[in-house]
Amino acid sequence: AKHGRPPKPLLGFKAVAPNTADAITVPEGYTAKVLIPWGTPLRSNGPAWRKDASNTAAEQAQQIGMHHDGMSFFPDRGFFGSNRGLLVLNHEYVDTVLLYADGDAVITQEKVDKALAAHGVSVVAIEKRHSGWRLVDSRYNRRVTGKTPVLFSGPVSGAHPALAANGPAQGTLNNCSNGHTPWGTYVACEENWNGYFGTTQVGWTPTPEQARYGVSAAALPYRWHTVDKRFDVAENPNELNRFGWVVEIDPRDPHSPPVKRTALGRIKHEGATFTESRGRVVVYTGDDQNGEYIYKFVSSAPWRLLRAQRKSPLDHGTLYVGKFNDDGTGTWIPLVHGQGALTVANGWADQADVLIRTRRAADAVGATKLDRPEWVAVNPKNKDVYVTLTNGSGNGGAVNPRAANPYGHIIKWREAHGDNTSTSFEWDIFVLAGDPAYDATVTLGADAIFGSPDGLAFDDDGRMWIETDISNSVQNKVGSYDHIGNNQMLVADPNTGEIRRFLVGPRGAEITGWTITPDQRTIFVNVQHPGEATPFWGAAPTPATPTAVSNWPDFDPTGRPRSATVVITKNDGGIIGS
Ligand code: FEO
Ligand code: CA
Ligand code: CA
Ligand code: CA
Repeated sequence: AKHGRPPKPLLGFKAVAPNTADAITVPEGYTAKVLIPWGTPLRSNGPAWRKDASNTAAEQAQQIGMHHDGMSFFPDRGFFGSNRGLLVLNHEYVDTVLLYADGDAVITQEKVDKALAAHGVSVVAIEKRHSGWRLVDSRYNRRVTGKTPVLFSGPVSGAHPALAANGPAQGTLNNCSNGHTPWGTYVACEENWNGYFGTTQVGWTPTPEQARYGVSAAALPYRWHTVDKRFDVAENPNELNRFGWVVEIDPRDPHSPPVKRTALGRIKHEGATFTESRGRVVVYTGDDQNGEYIYKFVSSAPWRLLRAQRKSPLDHGTLYVGKFNDDGTGTWIPLVHGQGALTVANGWADQADVLIRTRRAADAVGATKLDRPEWVAVNPKNKDVYVTLTNGSGNGGAVNPRAANPYGHIIKWREAHGDNTSTSFEWDIFVLAGDPAYDATVTLGADAIFGSPDGLAFDDDGRMWIETDISNSVQNKVGSYDHIGNNQMLVADPNTGEIRRFLVGPRGAEITGWTITPDQRTIFVNVQHPGEATPFWGAAPTPATPTAVSNWPDFDPTGRPRSATVVITKNDGGIIGS
């Protein structure tokens, strides 16, 4: 630094303590405010939220969806870009008890339609006023739901026989994390889509392909197939081939259909993280299930050149899957028809076949199984790549060092020559999450203990933001989360390895979704599924009613908990985290 002064430390706030309050806790000197909870009308003349959940399916389609997840802020051009823009966010799934006034004991077509309308993506214009950020009326405000007409592009075209199902291609489902392209579009990723398909047909069993993605007859808790044949896997088996993709949405073209970009493969996509090297777009995407893989897509030419030729950079390129060797080296193995094991002789018809069956193609080339790969983030300072492995078991190898891994860990790698298009890399473990009181391999202090890292993002200064998703299934199996409290967001200094807790969420909620204004003075995060029954902070029986667990953010005794975006600002107007 100039005049020998050391650089200012990246982390400048006082850590918040773990807690189990039904509240948002942020550091001293910061403010957190709620924006666009589930049910907020997209327009000021739209249908008002009804706290007894009696809004119809048609009304839900004009309101913010449920279970907010991945999110990107698209600033307006020019000087006001940090005060105005479009917020685009995913609605991953629905709580079938909270969504309906009479609960989910009985399923009807109207209820299926309401669930479909509560899924997908919201695009809303937001603006910073004196009183804070608020939704504003705009021609861009729209919903993409489970029924919005969609297109397919890339090697698996809309005319491919595997996509020939009853009715036109519609909708996107289970949009977990997300990404944003260098050309200004949003991508939503389809994660646990298998859970929406089932059948009551006696004797039905899944094909090996369906089984590889976890498709089963029961489809709990949704049971849409019992009233809507679209989701009956015995009667309409190709419908599920329309899911598991990365979906591109242009927020500045409100009439443009979402496009499923098939070259990025069909898995349970957690997110899609974009970077570029040598002008090429590079997209990292995890497949969030125990023992699944990490993928990387590299465009075939510089993305500006492809776009100048009226081609999508996401339709032309190579999909790779990661192999992490025990000696700290790694390689990206191409999933290209005709190469390696992916030949006609081995039963692979063509590239479309490789992409529809991405998981089995990755099995065939010997990729490395991981402890549930979730979000990927790229350090803007040095292009190092980080991924959260949220938790898992039994995957082995140096990259999954704990046989039972209820806490998860974060790994990082540097691509050869610092070029993210490279096909080799060197990897290392950034941190083993957990609580040293229960696991001697953990070295985190009280300000940093956490578990089940999921969301991950860098700001422009190089702070790495970590969001957690401790799920019921993990907490039910281990008592070792009792010092960690509710789900939270922490900040890491990737240079020193220091981690500091910045935010603790309300009860039963995960913290997910992360985006920031260009001036770094507003951060948006999402609180997803407040009230989901979690046993560790009290005597709450499972299943407890969600409202007994949390009533955030309205705290209305006759209302219900609602997922929402949270807006974080520093009271002195400074950079968040500094
Ligand atoms: Fe939807 Fe893997 O979290
Ligand atoms: Ca989630
Ligand atoms: Ca997630
Ligand atoms: Ca998760």
